[in-house]
Amino acid sequence: TQPAITAYRAAILDSLGDPTDLGIDNSYRYFEDGLMVVENGQITALGEATDLLTTLPADITIQQYSDALIIPGFIDTHIHYPQTGMIASYGEQLLDWLENYTFPAEQKFADPQHAADVSEIFVNELLRNGTTTALVFGTVHPASVDAFFHCAEQHNLRMIAGKVMMDRNAPAALTDTPDSSYQDSKALIERWHGKGRLHYAVTPRFAPTSSPEQLSLAGKLLQEYEGLYMHTHLSENKNEIEWVKNLFPDQNGYLDVYDHHHLLGERSVFAHGVHLCDEECQRLADTDSAIAFCPTSNLFLGSGLFNLPQAEKFKINVGMGTDVGAGTSFSMLQTINEAYKVMQLQGKKLHPFKSFYLATLGGAKALKLDDKIGNLEPGSEADFVVLDYNATPLMKYRMAQTQSLEERLFVMMTLGDDRAVKETYAMGKPVYSRD
Ligand code: GUN
Ligand code: ZN
Repeated sequence: TQPAITAYRAAILDSLGDPTDLGIDNSYRYFEDGLMVVENGQITALGEATDLLTTLPADITIQQYSDALIIPGFIDTHIHYPQTGMIASYGEQLLDWLENYTFPAEQKFADPQHAADVSEIFVNELLRNGTTTALVFGTVHPASVDAFFHCAEQHNLRMIAGKVMMDRNAPAALTDTPDSSYQDSKALIERWHGKGRLHYAVTPRFAPTSSPEQLSLAGKLLQEYEGLYMHTHLSENKNEIEWVKNLFPDQNGYLDVYDHHHLLGERSVFAHGVHLCDEECQRLADTDSAIAFCPTSNLFLGSGLFNLPQAEKFKINVGMGTDVGAGTSFSMLQTINEAYKVMQLQGKKLHPFKSFYLATLGGAKALKLDDKIGNLEPGSEADFVVLDYNATPLMKYRMAQTQSLEERLFVMMTLGDDRAVKETYAMGKPVYSRD
């Protein structure tokens, strides 16, 4: 039997690399009347519609979109699914916010049915926002991760997640032990890592909630299996940083606590990194580690302004993270909108093409998945989004005034959100449709 071929005809855009390295003009590929051919879940051709159509069998299905832009699925490099129900909680900075809102919300995940219910709400929220891959925190309960992966598997999504490791400075109902966290993580790795499109992330919450013994065992897990991720928080808040210095007086700062326990590496992703010195940036770069830039969260918790130019200077891999529930939106469009403002507050600009790069290919590079996702290169997995330029009356009116793709992208990221996501596809299958 012939494989099913579908072609998508619309304006099509993807990133070729970091605009900071390549220059804006060499950093993207754009077809005003483009065609993307998808076969068995993979992209097999991309180009001008009029050129490509002559090479294709006459009987293939062509799905055409007008006033729409096809881009790769968004990649969220840091998010907490158990915090879905406590997004928008008032009034606190990091440490009190954790005590007052986060830990109570996470305790409910002792109930597997609750985990299953929230997983479904969470995954649907990702898809309606056009996010097809995310690096996801569970809770301390292993069943929380089973529930999430089960849901991701049903939609055939490329997802990364892990069980929180946390053995101190948290309520008893949310703590494990070094040994149980090691054993529970290992069982989850055996069950899920490399199954279909799923990957496991060893997930110590952050230095203050792990003993040195637990951090050592996290490092041991990373050595025992190929391709594991390491996912944690780093230098988000000034009081947090002081606390880490007191808890680990023998280490030379926050990053060094993780470094000492062998937690840096090419699949290590550190959320925030708002207050890093040059030496720490150098060390992140030397180990090919990545930072998740989470602007809505950093503003919401009053944590500070991420210094993207400093990260660029040291050539650190950076992706965008929503950090829901400290972050205030699942939308990567809204996330890059806030990133632009974080740059403005530092007297810097964030170019629209750089923003789209960070939300797609930059995230894929940070996760070492750019051979599979993050762009629309033939051979890639067909994870993509159809964005509607005319999603709201205001967007339609504003778009009518635009003169260039660059300008349309900027309006899209400034005014757009879930309403601008018309369709989301994973492995060539529709997983969300707005209308
Ligand atoms: N640091 C430790 N845990 C958390 C968390 O759940 N959210 C954020 N934003 N920072 C953290
Ligand atoms: Zn977080």
